[in-house]
Amino acid sequence: MIPSVSFRLASLSDLTAIIQLDALSNPHPWGENLISDALQTRKNWVVELGDVTQKSIVGWLTASVVLDQSELELIVIDPSVRRQGLARQLMIAWSEAVAQQDVSELLLEVRESNLGAISLYKSLGFEQVGRRKNYYQIEKKGQAEQGREAACLFTLKIERL
Ligand SMILES: CC(C)(COP(=O)(O)OP(=O)(O)OC[C@H]1O[C@@H](n2cnc3c(N)ncnc32)[C@H](O)[C@@H]1OP(=O)(O)O)[C@@H](O)C(=O)NCCC(=O)NCCS
Repeated sequence: MIPSVSFRLASLSDLTAIIQLDALSNPHPWGENLISDALQTRKNWVVELGDVTQKSIVGWLTASVVLDQSELELIVIDPSVRRQGLARQLMIAWSEAVAQQDVSELLLEVRESNLGAISLYKSLGFEQVGRRKNYYQIEKKGQAEQGREAACLFTLKIERL
């Protein structure tokens, strides 16, 4: 059980904390430019731990909204607090917020090898609707390209969450 968990919209003032989170927690880090762009052009939510005197960001979700669809671009949770329901709660915060903006469908793409994330999405009711062969490059830190892997496309009608 984690004490003092809160969820809120993110802003550009969170840039440094999100860069650190991304670098430590994302197997495919986005880096400063992409994160800055996401904070300025997309919808962003963070998970914080701690009280009013000291809070730290342990999760980030960024998503685009186009007409009645919202697409998850990235969700990442600090490894030290995984498997405690934070990603699930963050995705519910996203879905409830975009539902207020007349979004009726959530979309996402995920690497076929990312079984943890796929399990998370399925547990929320997402259904696989497609597969893009050779969509992602497989890279490992410090190593040359290893090949390519498929992207799985998932959707969820929002009223089902
Ligand atoms: C995927 C990720 C966001 C999940 O975060 P999390 O906070 O640990 O997830 P939750 O605790 O909310 O998990 C909810 C459910 O999802 C499933 N799940 C999550 N991680 C899983 C894993 N590693 N293996 C199997 N199932 C998993 C389980 O059904 C879990 O419920 P349970 O713990 O009761 O079994 C996190 O592992 C992460 O940041 N990974 C690196 C970034 C990434 O791959 N993001 C997704 C692609 S954009």
